[in-house]
Amino acid sequence: MVRSSITGLLGALLLASAIRAENITSDAHFYGESPPVYPSPEATGTGPWAIAYGKARTFVASLTAEEKVNLTAGITADSGCAGSIPAIPRVGFPGLCVTDAGNGVRGTDFVNAWSSGLHVGASWNKRLARQRAIHLGYEYRQKGVNVALGPVVGPIGRVAEGGRNWEGFSADPYQSGVLVYETVEGIQSTGVGACTKHFIANEQETNRNPETDDQGEYVESLSSNIDDRTMHELYLWPFQDAVLAGSASIMCSYQRINNSYGCQNSKVLNGLLKEELGFQGYVMTDWYAQHGGIASANAGLDMAMPHSDFWNSNLTDAIANGTMEASRLDDMATRIIATWYHLGQDTYFPDPGLGMPKDVDAEHQRVIATSPASKDTLLQSAIEGHVLVKNTDGALPLKSPRLVSVFGYDAKGPDALQFNTISFQSSYPAIQRNHTLWVGGGSGENSPAYVDAPIDALQRQAYEDGSSILWNFDSIDPQLDSTSDVCLVFINSYATESQDRPGLTDQYSDTLVTNVANKCKNTVVVLHNAGIRLVDAWVEHENVTAVIFAHLPGQDTGRAVVDLLYGRANPSGRLPYTVARQAEDYGSLLHPAQREGDYWLFPQSNFSEGVLIDYRAFDAQNITPRYEFGYGLSYTTFDYSDLQTRRSNVSTTAYPPNATIEQGGNPHLWDEILTVSARVSNTGVVDGDEVPQLYLGIPNGPVRQLRGFDKVRIVAGESTPVAFPLTRRDLSVWDVDAQQWHLQEGEYKVYLGSSSRDLPLSGTFSI
Ligand code: NOJ
Repeated sequence: MVRSSITGLLGALLLASAIRAENITSDAHFYGESPPVYPSPEATGTGPWAIAYGKARTFVASLTAEEKVNLTAGITADSGCAGSIPAIPRVGFPGLCVTDAGNGVRGTDFVNAWSSGLHVGASWNKRLARQRAIHLGYEYRQKGVNVALGPVVGPIGRVAEGGRNWEGFSADPYQSGVLVYETVEGIQSTGVGACTKHFIANEQETNRNPETDDQGEYVESLSSNIDDRTMHELYLWPFQDAVLAGSASIMCSYQRINNSYGCQNSKVLNGLLKEELGFQGYVMTDWYAQHGGIASANAGLDMAMPHSDFWNSNLTDAIANGTMEASRLDDMATRIIATWYHLGQDTYFPDPGLGMPKDVDAEHQRVIATSPASKDTLLQSAIEGHVLVKNTDGALPLKSPRLVSVFGYDAKGPDALQFNTISFQSSYPAIQRNHTLWVGGGSGENSPAYVDAPIDALQRQAYEDGSSILWNFDSIDPQLDSTSDVCLVFINSYATESQDRPGLTDQYSDTLVTNVANKCKNTVVVLHNAGIRLVDAWVEHENVTAVIFAHLPGQDTGRAVVDLLYGRANPSGRLPYTVARQAEDYGSLLHPAQREGDYWLFPQSNFSEGVLIDYRAFDAQNITPRYEFGYGLSYTTFDYSDLQTRRSNVSTTAYPPNATIEQGGNPHLWDEILTVSARVSNTGVVDGDEVPQLYLGIPNGPVRQLRGFDKVRIVAGESTPVAFPLTRRDLSVWDVDAQQWHLQEGEYKVYLGSSSRDLPLSGTFSI
């Protein structure tokens, strides 16, 4: 690889990065170095965008230069929205309100707190993900929010202790891509725009922003150093699905990518997003993530939030003095206005920020966004993200217990629930010890309409079935009534934006579980976890009879878990990440990167593991996890048979045929080349949902990669066919030299089953 123009410090740094890239050899392109890609591609208005672009071009042509500039940055509007684009009354444009986040409308009342991204991932249910997104979109719309600041596919979960992994769906790019596609289409079907974030490689919170440290030294934000193949096959993959789904906006990230800031990185914004993926929407900054003026506009940034310290009238000055093309400003404004037309927000949409309170104490218009129509989906999405990982001798579902003892801080509701004041900054960094955990902390949390805590739902159960309930939320070594039929222990594992997690276990909770298990023969552990949680301290304790990873179910958390415990619902969640036996098994991907050595003032994180994160790393290194990616139990059992592979008759040239770039990239990437099918039977005595998972061993790729999944309801004793169409992209490897997706010669391995390591069916095919 030639690095002709790299000199001095940067050169030394790049060399060091390259040397450390053990897993990356010939495909080390762009590693640590972000090549310039200019000019910024103008949106083409292709495919479904054609009408909107026609209107937007006419509209923008009628604006003054100043009016165009006003579209490109937020204003301090005291609007109740996280960001506001001002109105242009002269031409009937009402402005835009943009607000967090992916799990519920933030900063307002009469909205639902939905299951979090990771919970949606754990449910592995595409149709449910779409339903959730439709209801979420409806709530945004009622509140007059034009653009929802979600969903999240970055971080994807590279760093086990990452503070925001719970906002995204899965540590696998394929799974994440399928779910973001459904989510973006679902939200946008209501006329609300999605802003898929954070683009790109925003994999840790530590040093996410530049800062002045304790010594008064200015520290740049972390640089995520990624080679081109890893970028395409792992980090860019789900963003491509979001663009394919028509995401109105993409939020550029805080940290640097290959040493260039995310919101002024011409390689990722101009090159990858706008040119290669054909993105037709607009790029919005993360909050205060703009670090340069004209450079950021030329690099492909379209909108600065919550305001710009750099642009404003400087944009028109720059056009006048030739440092920026007038066409760039036109493209910025056109992209923004085109999404407004494309979503139909010009015809009817509530006034921007209508239901967003300007001030928590002030009078504000009461806009009820919750709807009775969303209740079923709210509960179902809470239920399906629970993953049963241990169930000795059918301990669950509970069989009419008479005396139920409940322990642990995580069973109870919060002491106070005040509108817009919820702040989950926990006083115990590893856990939320004040109450049950239904969402993580930071901009992904919102004020729920209510919280149905586990104890609330358990009390209702006792009321219904005449059983008796005892509890102790506070003691780490609670006294126990020895006649208890079951002891339910509720613990959690907390995470929040702006800091990475202090570890994957905590001593307090582990001691509590062990103390209860030492005294109670039937101890069932429910663990609300905002990310990976290790359980080896107690999971093999003979009295721990069942364990549920309950993730972050949202406000219906209590009724969801009690429906599962009592068998009114059958667990159908599967882990969207790998649970190791010990933290060290995550290797260099356990902790976030820290400032060190020569790079003290410009911290570096070398993604030298390439695409080998999570289960791909465990497979490559042959490490046995405690619970593998895709794992989860049901109250019934399933069997697999009849694996078949059927070729379609589309062209299988090595590279996709040339075509006009549409949103999502070359449309031939979505050509279906092959379908794998099988039959799944429910061999138990109760009805249940299975998640058949298809993994491929692609020549020149990792041991196995997820390339298909579904969720199917199967009546006890019956069976159902399942089929997984595979597209050209699904079967390809990113070819760095050709800058194309490349179908591989040689034998592909096929594995089908119920987790990444329980794969009863296998076969091969060649293309
Ligand atoms: C910063 C967060 O990183 C981002 O996800 C969020 O949308 C903005 N703040 C706005 O609140």
